[in-house]
Amino acid sequence: MTQQKGTATQQAVALRAALDDANYRYYVLDDPSIPDAEYDRLMRELEALEAAHPDLTTPDSPTRRVGARPASGFAEVRHAIPMLSLTNAFSDADAPAGVDPDHEVRDFVRRVEQGLGTTDPEFSVEPKLDGLAISLIYRDGVFVQGATRGDGTTGEDVTANLRTVKAIPLRLRSGKNEHDSLRLRGGKNEHDSLRLRSAQTGKDSLKLRDEDWPRELEVRGEVFMPKAGFEAYNARMLREGGKPLANPRNGAAGSLRQLDPHVTASRPLAFYAYGVYLPPDPDAVIADRHSAAMAMLRGWGFPTCPQNAIARGADGCLAYFRKIGTLRDKLPYGIDGVVYKVDRYDQQLELGFVARAPRWAIAHKFPAEEQATVVEAIDIQIGRTGAATPVARLKPVQVAGVTVTNATLHNADQVARLDVRVGDSVIVRRAGDVIPEVVRVIPERRPPHTRPWKMPAHCPVCGSAIEREEGEAAARCTGGLVCAAQRREAIRHFASRRAMDIDGLGERYIEDLIEFGYVHSIADLYKLTLEDFLAMKRRADERDGSTPETVKSGKIATKWAENLVAAIDASKDSSLERFLFALGIPDVGEATAKTLARHFGSLDALMQASANELTEVPDVGQIMAAHITVFFAEKRNRDAIAALHKAGVHWPESAPQRQAEGPLAGQTVVLTGGLSSLSRDEAKDKLEALGAKVSGSVSKKTSFVVAGEAAGSKLDKAQALGIEIWDEQRLLAFLGSHAD
Ligand code: IVH
Repeated sequence: MTQQKGTATQQAVALRAALDDANYRYYVLDDPSIPDAEYDRLMRELEALEAAHPDLTTPDSPTRRVGARPASGFAEVRHAIPMLSLTNAFSDADAPAGVDPDHEVRDFVRRVEQGLGTTDPEFSVEPKLDGLAISLIYRDGVFVQGATRGDGTTGEDVTANLRTVKAIPLRLRSGKNEHDSLRLRGGKNEHDSLRLRSAQTGKDSLKLRDEDWPRELEVRGEVFMPKAGFEAYNARMLREGGKPLANPRNGAAGSLRQLDPHVTASRPLAFYAYGVYLPPDPDAVIADRHSAAMAMLRGWGFPTCPQNAIARGADGCLAYFRKIGTLRDKLPYGIDGVVYKVDRYDQQLELGFVARAPRWAIAHKFPAEEQATVVEAIDIQIGRTGAATPVARLKPVQVAGVTVTNATLHNADQVARLDVRVGDSVIVRRAGDVIPEVVRVIPERRPPHTRPWKMPAHCPVCGSAIEREEGEAAARCTGGLVCAAQRREAIRHFASRRAMDIDGLGERYIEDLIEFGYVHSIADLYKLTLEDFLAMKRRADERDGSTPETVKSGKIATKWAENLVAAIDASKDSSLERFLFALGIPDVGEATAKTLARHFGSLDALMQASANELTEVPDVGQIMAAHITVFFAEKRNRDAIAALHKAGVHWPESAPQRQAEGPLAGQTVVLTGGLSSLSRDEAKDKLEALGAKVSGSVSKKTSFVVAGEAAGSKLDKAQALGIEIWDEQRLLAFLGSHAD
C-alpha cells in the first residue's frame, strides 16, 4: 500500500512537472514542445491519479487551473464575467461493434433534452476556430479594452495589439441595416432581439439607446491566423532565415503577445465573434437567442464565421460535424472541431454550468492531427526527376485516424533546420490529403549519441552520385534513366491519368514490369503483348508465393491482360499537351504543357526552339527554358520520342496560336471554390474561349480570381496580394455580355 502510494506520488510529481513545463513553453514562450493530444493525455492521467488518491492533490496542481497564468509584460485584466471553457467530445473511429462511435455527442444532447424536458432542441452549430479566445469591451460603441482569456478569470491587456487587427471594429457601426432586414423577415424572435433583456428575470434590463447599441458591450471571439497568411509568413521566415511558426494557433497567440504592436500589425490576423455579454450581468442578453445576437453583432460590424448554422437534435449536430469535416481542408482558416451551443438563451440559463464549462455547449473535436513518435531511420526516396527526398521511417502512430509509418522531411535543408536525427522523438502532422510531415523534434527526448543526418553521396538505388546544384533546394541522383527508381517514377508519371492515361496500369504492375525486365523505358510500354503481361503476372505471383487459387487464373487473367493491352493501345491517340506533360520535363506541369502546345503547335517546332524563343512563351522563365532545351538536347530523350512515334503515339498537329485573342487575351485567371450554375471545366472553357489563360495557382501575375462557394486558400492568397476577386454573378454577367 505505502509502496503503491510512493509510486503514485512520484508519478503525480512527474506528471505535474511535465504539464507545467508544457504549459510554460506553450503559453509563455509560444514555443510548444509536445503535441496537444499528448498534453491532454498527461492531463487525463494526472486527473485520474488525483481522483484515485485525493490526498495527493495539491493546490498548485495543473489540474486545478484552466488555461495559463498571464505572462509578464502585460497588465492584468479581471474578466467581469468569467471566460469559460468547453467540455470536449470525441467520435471514436475504433469503437468496437455495438458501441456507438458518436455516443459522447448523443449523451450530451440527451442531457440537454432531459435538463429542458424537450426533444430535438435547436443548436447553433459553429466551427471550432483554432486560434486564441479574446474579450473586447466597447463603451458607448467605442473599443476600449481587449484581453486574452488567461486563466478564465484574469487575462492580459492586449488592447494595443488588438487595435491592429483589422477585422476588429474600433467603433461599432449603426446596426440599422441588419436590424431592418431582421424586422422585415419579421419573426417574433427577431423582433424581440431588438430589446435588451435579462434572460433570468425576463424583464428588460437595458434599453436601446439612439445609436441602438448598449453602453457597455463585451464581444468574445477568436483571433486566428488564416492558413494563407500563416503559409506566406512561414515561407518568408524560411527565406529570411527567421523562425517559422509552429502552427497557425501559435502564430495567433505569439502575434498577440508581442510587446510592440507594430509586430502584431505586421502579422496576418483575423477575427470571428462567437459570443456577446452585457457586463456585469452574466445573464443579460441582447436577443432571445444566440444566433439572433450574432446577427446583431454582424450589423454592428463584427465578422462571424460564415459556416455557422442551426441544427436540430443529435442527428442534426452530427450531420453538421460530418459536413464541416469534409470542408475542413478547403476552409481558409484552421479548425479543430465544431461547437454545439443550445441556441435559445432562456434554455442556456436553465441548463447552467458545471465547474468551468457550460452544460449547454460542447466542443466536438476532430481526431488530433499531430502526434509524437520516434524516427527509426531516415531513408531517401528518388523521384521522377532524380530529386532525393529524405523520408523519416517512423514507429507506427495513429494520426487523424490513420496509421502513419513514413513522413516526408522535404529536403536536406529541412532536415538540418529541424535537426532531425535517427532515434529522435518527433511530432508528426497529417492534415487532410497532405503527405504526413515531421514538424519538429522534441529535444528533451533525444537519446544520447545521436548524430546529425547527412544526405548520402550516392543514390541508394543505382549508386550514381547525388549532387545538388547552386540555388536548388533538391539534391538529385545523377543516374537519369539508368536509375531504376527514376525510371519507375518516369513510367508511372507517363502512364498516369492526366498524362497518357493508361487505364489500369498502376504502380504495382509498373514495378513488376521493370523488375522482370519487360520494360526499360516509356517506349517499351507500347511493345508489351498479352503474353508479356500474363508471364509477368505469373512471375510476380511466384515471387510473392501466391498459391494457384489466388493467381489470376485462366479467363480472368486473360481478360485483365487484354484490358491492359487495349488501354495502352487507346492511349496512343493523344494530344500534344498531354504528351508533353507525360514526358516529365522538369518543371513542366499541365498548364505549361498546354501553353507550350498552343504556342508551338507541333512537337518539332518546340524541339527546335532556342532558350530565347522559349522565354517568349507566357509563364516560361529562364530556368524552365533551360530545362526544356536540355531535355530535348539529350539523345536518349529524342530516341524515346522517336520510338513512341514509331509505336503509333500520335496527336493532331495545329497551327501555332501565339497570341490569344478575345476580350481576356493576355489575362491569367484562377478559378476557386464551387460554382453553382456551371462546372469548373465549363467555366474554364468559356474563359479560355475569350482568350484567358486559366491557371491553377494564384501569383502576382494573376489578373483576377473567380471565387465560388467555400473558396479556400487561393482566395486568401489573392486577397493578400490585392488581386481582383470576381464572384459567380460577375463571371456570369461577363460571360453573358460576351456570348456570341
Ligand atoms: S464558445 C462557454 N465558440 O474554444 C463557451 N468557443 O474551450 C465559450 N473556440 O477558449 C466558448 N471556436 O477559444 C466558442 N465557435 C466557438 C469557438 C470557441 C473556438 C475556442 C475558444 C475557447 C475554447 C473553449
